[in-house]
Amino acid sequence: MGDIPENSIISLYNVTRSFGDREVLKGISFEVSRGEIFGLLGPSGAGKTTLINILTGQLSCGGNAEIFGTGCGSIGSGLYRRIGAVLDNCGLYERLSCLDNLRLHARIHAVPFSRIEEALQKVGLAESGNKKVKALSKGMKQRLALARAILHEPKLIFMDEPTSGLDPSTALEIHDLMKELQSKGTTIFLTTHNMDEAYRMCDRIALLSEGEIVELGNPAEICRQHCSSSILNIVTTDGEQMEIDNSPAHAEAVAQLMREGRLKAIHSSEPDLGTVFLKLTGKELDK
Ligand SMILES: Nc1ncnc2c1ncn2[C@@H]1O[C@H](COP(=O)(O)OP(=O)(O)OP(=O)(O)O)[C@@H](O)[C@H]1O
Ligand SMILES: [Mg+2]
Repeated sequence: MGDIPENSIISLYNVTRSFGDREVLKGISFEVSRGEIFGLLGPSGAGKTTLINILTGQLSCGGNAEIFGTGCGSIGSGLYRRIGAVLDNCGLYERLSCLDNLRLHARIHAVPFSRIEEALQKVGLAESGNKKVKALSKGMKQRLALARAILHEPKLIFMDEPTSGLDPSTALEIHDLMKELQSKGTTIFLTTHNMDEAYRMCDRIALLSEGEIVELGNPAEICRQHCSSSILNIVTTDGEQMEIDNSPAHAEAVAQLMREGRLKAIHSSEPDLGTVFLKLTGKELDK
């Protein structure tokens, strides 16, 4: 394969994967640099979890998939020490307490138990250490999974839809923690259907549709590139609502409303990733 930049943490070259005769990933190539928050976006069934499973060494693939310069098919214990994961199936021991789940993980990675309290604190579960996992809410479980993922201070964290189904304030806490991890140099590979999350959190994103990357880059730049103007939402004094492109061609129409005193409200909405995805694939992103 081609030269890998020195700071490349994840490197994919023409990665393919089929289940039976169904080709789920059809030649994926991209790299993720050290310290990036990289988002893989795509609708349900696009192949996001499949790619995370390949990158974490749980699934084989065609082509070349590497993390830290090592083929994902031969990830050993030394490398597992450098990665953490918050996966959609959670993987917590339901009948054990939060503390015991973290103690087990600490033992596996030879992390001092003294770090456990700190990790629970970070995710806002300091008061819940003795609660059994089965008694936790979905948001609390997700936060415990995150505590476990960061306990051994990995350099690379995989997060498979970490805020899916969570209330907005828990999602925000998780976002804050992700930013904090990034500020310490941690690389985060995130999958999501949530375009707002991706727009706000990710340095770069890849849009995945039916096993292929249809766009890759900085989210704001992608939006700018594909949607040259924003949309103006106008409400007139007689209650009429209009949506027009914010372009010079419509300046006279807006000016006319103002002259007639009929302009009650006007605001612009920026093009979003959902609009771009729809434009590129004809499909909704958040389905
Ligand atoms: N072990 C498996 N055996 C057979 N098919 C599979 C397997 N794992 C995934 N698939 C199929 O591969 C496709 C991609 O699945 P994947 O779970 O990667 O999608 P996803 O993008 O993560 O979707 P979601 O957003 O719903 O989590 C789906 O059609 C799925 O049915
Ligand atoms: Mg998935």
